[in-house]
Amino acid sequence: MIFAKRVALVAITAALCIIYFQLKNRDYSSTLQSLSQSVGLGELVDDGQEDTRPPVNKQQHSQPTQPQAPSNGITTSFTGLHLPPSTFRPPNSTYTRAVIMGHLTIENTTFLSLAPPDIQQYIYIVDDLSAPLHTPMNKGHEAMVYLTYILDHYDSLPDINIFMHAHQRAWHTPELLNHEATEVLKRLSSERVWREGYMNLRCHWDPGCPERIYPGRSYRENTKAEEVAVARAWAEMFPGVSIPDALGAPCCAQFAVSSDRITNIPRENFERYRNWLIRTKESDWVSGRVFEYIWQVIFTGEPKVCPDSRACYCDGYGICFTTHEAFEEWFGLHHRWGDAMKELDEWEQKAKIIDQVKDWTKIEQKKVEIPVPGKNWELKEEIDRSLQTLIDMRVEAIRNGTDPEVRASVAGRSWKLGDGY
Ligand SMILES: *[C@@H]1O[C@H](CO)[C@@H](O)[C@H](O)[C@H]1NC(C)=O
Ligand SMILES: *[C@@H]1O[C@H](CO)[C@@H](O)[C@H](O)[C@H]1NC(C)=O
Ligand SMILES: *[C@@H]1O[C@H](CO)[C@@H](O)[C@H](O)[C@H]1NC(C)=O
Repeated sequence: MIFAKRVALVAITAALCIIYFQLKNRDYSSTLQSLSQSVGLGELVDDGQEDTRPPVNKQQHSQPTQPQAPSNGITTSFTGLHLPPSTFRPPNSTYTRAVIMGHLTIENTTFLSLAPPDIQQYIYIVDDLSAPLHTPMNKGHEAMVYLTYILDHYDSLPDINIFMHAHQRAWHTPELLNHEATEVLKRLSSERVWREGYMNLRCHWDPGCPERIYPGRSYRENTKAEEVAVARAWAEMFPGVSIPDALGAPCCAQFAVSSDRITNIPRENFERYRNWLIRTKESDWVSGRVFEYIWQVIFTGEPKVCPDSRACYCDGYGICFTTHEAFEEWFGLHHRWGDAMKELDEWEQKAKIIDQVKDWTKIEQKKVEIPVPGKNWELKEEIDRSLQTLIDMRVEAIRNGTDPEVRASVAGRSWKLGDGY
């Protein structure tokens, strides 16, 4: 009897859930329909038609998809932005540089004392309106900081503007730079940023590339709350531009932009983006995330910008693996090294528990797992050996990267004697 009741309850709950989600989806679809969107509405709602998206590129590292601008002309982007190439700078020119970060009062950026001293620091405090540099409000995470900096300095920008989170180390800061912000600042090639106009500081495709956000999707995916928000925001941020099927870029909103590129984009655009951020009813978290996958649209006018990882490290940071195989080998070894570290840690945890056992007759009852004797030494040896190889290969890659010709060749650029980086 009780069992039957339970079954009924479960069935009713399930039915309610299904109805709820259907209503929710319909609600979302009708919200989309009512948007003041002149174009692209058809792509917004999944009407069961065939998926015309290009096939996902499986080769994660070796297929540059960044549009190559012709060296002489102006490129018209997907959004209709006209992007001339950066003005010519002779080899070995110097560039003025700035790093832009935002943080809460309780945080600090003292680690920047290790950054190259020529890089000016624009550090915004987001929750203190009396701070020398602050945002109009604490909303939208780093997006509010970056846009405020651009609007405040639009007419007096340094050549290279490096937008970063105020974290000394972060998982998403590139592995080959030890995940360290100051390594990024030390190694970043001003020449590449100047040439490309916009450079994502993360070289890895995962997460974010080749595609991450499908603004046309009519259902909500819990891990990507910003997907729906992007679709809603699009009409206001990019008026008259049809919504792309997919957006893709390496994650996490850290990038560098040249002054040329920023000032080729009308100031009103940046005002429009910040106004959206100020006005939106989306939560702070979601509104910040919306920008994570549209920065590349803002600065290149293209929905998907996924440069080749090896070229990004080599041309962008001077860490040059001359072959695809060597590059893959380094990351494969790095992965195995991480696994061995984890395994050793688990071994040591088990050993610690064994050490604490006083009464050995109780071992059986306590279900204590006995670590394999000697395995720890094996692991330690493997860890040391891998680490040494990783360091050696990295040192060699950095040595290779001091040759500007190698950088050009890995990035697929033409190069002649006398050209710098
Ligand atoms: C700055 O932050 C770091 C890391 O959170 C902390 O260890 C350090 O004590 C802080 N320094 C100052 C001067 O507040
Ligand atoms: C560095 O360059 C040399 C010579 O081209 C090459 O043999 C070596 O494999 C390169 N090292 C890496 C890590 O790619
Ligand atoms: C730029 O610097 C490199 C390395 O110092 C040098 O080989 C090259 O000749 C320089 N190019 C010019 C145009 O000065």
